[in-house]
Amino acid sequence: MSQKIAHKLVTKLTSSDRLQLLSVHSGSSNSKVYIYGDTQKEVFYAVKCVKDPRLSLFDEYARYLTLSKYYKNLPEVLNVQKVGNYEIMISNAYGTETLHRLICSKPKTCSKCLSIWSDVVFSLVDVWEQTKHNYLSEESPRPYKPRLERITKGVKEIKISDNIKLENYFNLPLKINGVIYPSLEECFSRLERVDAPSFGVLCHGDPQPSNVVVSGNGWYLVDWEWSGFHNDWRQMLSHMYGWWSYRYFSAETLGEMKIEFGRIIINHNYGFNNEIQNYQKVAVEVFTRMNGTWKDIQDINKYLGLLYFGEIRFLDYWNKQKLMPAIIAEAVKTTFGNAGQPFQYIDKSYHTYV
Ligand SMILES: Nc1ncnc2c1ncn2[C@@H]1O[C@H](COP(=O)(O)OP(=O)(O)O)[C@@H](O)[C@H]1O
Ligand SMILES: [Mg+2]
Repeated sequence: MSQKIAHKLVTKLTSSDRLQLLSVHSGSSNSKVYIYGDTQKEVFYAVKCVKDPRLSLFDEYARYLTLSKYYKNLPEVLNVQKVGNYEIMISNAYGTETLHRLICSKPKTCSKCLSIWSDVVFSLVDVWEQTKHNYLSEESPRPYKPRLERITKGVKEIKISDNIKLENYFNLPLKINGVIYPSLEECFSRLERVDAPSFGVLCHGDPQPSNVVVSGNGWYLVDWEWSGFHNDWRQMLSHMYGWWSYRYFSAETLGEMKIEFGRIIINHNYGFNNEIQNYQKVAVEVFTRMNGTWKDIQDINKYLGLLYFGEIRFLDYWNKQKLMPAIIAEAVKTTFGNAGQPFQYIDKSYHTYV
C-alpha cells in the first residue's frame, strides 16, 4: 500500500517516468523507506512512509531544519505530506548503503568504515562543543522518562515460560555467570536516577551507523526524529558506544535464563567480534575530550544499560531471540557498573557487585 503511494508521489515530484525502485528498508520507527533511482540521470530519492508515526514526519522535518543550520552532512528534504493515514517524506539519496551494511559486508575491519565513523563522531562532537547551553529536560527531543517506561514495560513482558512473564521475578536476585547482582527491580530503580547533565547540546539524537548513509564522496546523516537542542551528550555517547556491543554479537553467542533456588540464573558466553572494539574506542576518546566526570561515567553506564534492555524488543524482529540472555546479562552488569569502569569492553566485563 505505502509503496503505491510512494511511487505515485515521487513520480509526480520529479516529473520522471524513468524511476526504478532500487531497494526497500524497514526503519526502527516502523517506517518503510523506498529508494528510487533515475538511472539515466544518476539521481536517487528516498521516500520514507510511516503510518500513525510516533513522531509526525512534519515534526521530524522541523528538527531537520534546526539541525541543518549546524550540520552540512544532510540530504536535501524535497517534500513532506500526508496521504490518508500515511505521512511521507521525500529526500535526496546521495548513496544507498549505510555504514552498518557496509561494515557487515566486510569480513575484517574496514579502514574506510572506521575513518567514516571517526569523522561522523568528531563532527557531532564539534557541534556539541559549539552549542553548549542550559539543559532543560522538558525540552529534550529524546525525553528519558517515557523511554524508560516503554523499555521497562517491554522487559516485564518477556516470557520466561509459556505463561509466566519476567515481571513475576522482578524482585529476585540474579546470578550471572556465577556473580550475584541485586534484582531487576533495583536495576530499574537505579535507571530512574540519571542526573541532568551540566549542559545540553545540539545533536542528531540517534547517532548510530544505520543512520549514516555512505555516498561516493563521503557520508551523511538521516533519521532526525530525535534531533535538536537539549540533548544529553552522555546519552548520545552511550549510543555511539553501546550500539556496537549488541548488533555485532555473532551466532556463537549462546545463553540460558532460568529460575532456580529463588534466583534468576543466567549463564552465557559472547561471540563478540573484537575488531568492533575499534569503533567503540572512538566513543571512549570522546569522553576524554568532553572532560567527563566520575558522575558522568555512572550516568553513561545507566544510559548504556537502558540501551541494552531496549534492544530486547527487536530480537523477534531480527530473529535473534537466542541473544536475549546475553543482552539481559550485559544490561544488568552495565547498569550496576562502577564508576571507573565506563564503556566496559564487553568480553572483559566481569566486574563484581556485592
Ligand atoms: N535520504 C536517504 N538516503 C539513503 N537512504 C536512506 C535515506 N533515508 C533513509 N534511508 C534508508 O532507510 C533506512 C531507514 O530510514 P530512517 O530515516 O533511519 O528510518 P527510522 O526512523 O525508521 O529508523 C535507513 O537506515 C537508510 O538505509
Ligand atoms: Mg533509522
